[in-house]
Amino acid sequence: MTPVVSLRVVRNDEAAVSEPHSEFASDMLAALANHPRGISPKYFYDAEGSALFDQICELPEYYPTRTELAILEGNAASIATQMGPRAEIVEFGAGSLRKVRLLLDAADAPARYVPIDISGEHMTQAATLLRRDYPGLQVKPVVADYTQPLTLPPALGGTGAAGGRRIGFFPGSTIGNFTSDEALRFLRTAARTLRGGALLLGADLIKDPARLHAAYNDSRGVTAAFNLNLLARANRELAADFDLSQFAHSAFYNAPQRRIEMHLLSLKRQRVTVLGRHFELEEGEAIHTENSHKFTIDSLRALARSAGFTPGPVWTDPESLFSLHWLEAPRT
Ligand code: AVJ
Repeated sequence: MTPVVSLRVVRNDEAAVSEPHSEFASDMLAALANHPRGISPKYFYDAEGSALFDQICELPEYYPTRTELAILEGNAASIATQMGPRAEIVEFGAGSLRKVRLLLDAADAPARYVPIDISGEHMTQAATLLRRDYPGLQVKPVVADYTQPLTLPPALGGTGAAGGRRIGFFPGSTIGNFTSDEALRFLRTAARTLRGGALLLGADLIKDPARLHAAYNDSRGVTAAFNLNLLARANRELAADFDLSQFAHSAFYNAPQRRIEMHLLSLKRQRVTVLGRHFELEEGEAIHTENSHKFTIDSLRALARSAGFTPGPVWTDPESLFSLHWLEAPRT
């Protein structure tokens, strides 16, 4: 995790204020200063948040993970055919070793696995496990924010006989966290990174709102704990004083925008302190913590096309809950 270094400075008024020295610090302060208040969902994933997310993936109500795994498993042979021999798999985010293992098991002599993640620690662990289980595989983690343009090691395919195509892997419907502009920008950058190769992309589908609602309002309260962990993380890392019992998890399907929205609601009028700065929250005021956009198969294919990809096969489950898209990247 990014270490938080904060500098104590004393202002003329003698109030001790810490200068924000991490992206989380400055984004959290901005979130509280802005109206409406909102912050990127990427800050959910500290060690605690990642563990809670793993629990979410096992919940009976949270269908995306198990559905995507079943789609991958049931179509491994067709996916392997699309990949071709000696593929180089580039994963955007490194949270889903279970998923990439299914790809590696199906692939014909995969040559290299390149996970890209902002957390180096998480990837180092993952890399060690994969090297042990796939002795022939090169594992080359890249510590970077995959939403930004990035430099990867040269594609194996470009270095001679050793490598096949470069295949991007972006499972889980994390693309749903982006606004449509961000999604387009991400896909355009990915198309360049993967040129001559392809992207295997997971996307959650529009469905009965009750089903969506249940997936983000589980009966055991794990999603609530995951959402509230953002405030707990601020308490741990940003010398904040959020009283978690005075905030409520709120998640609902915004049908016109085709997305689940998650918010943290202030249960009373209260003052909070983050890095020495004070903020007033009204009773009922919301901090917007996540958007999770849902797609139709056609809307996802249209988005991919506008980013320069040529959509290929789509795999889905019998209930059409989730979709996996094969998208060919342009050659130039
Ligand atoms: C990891 C972004 C795909 O949107 O379903 C799960 C995150 N948030 N429960 C999703 C999440 C609340 C998840 N993604």
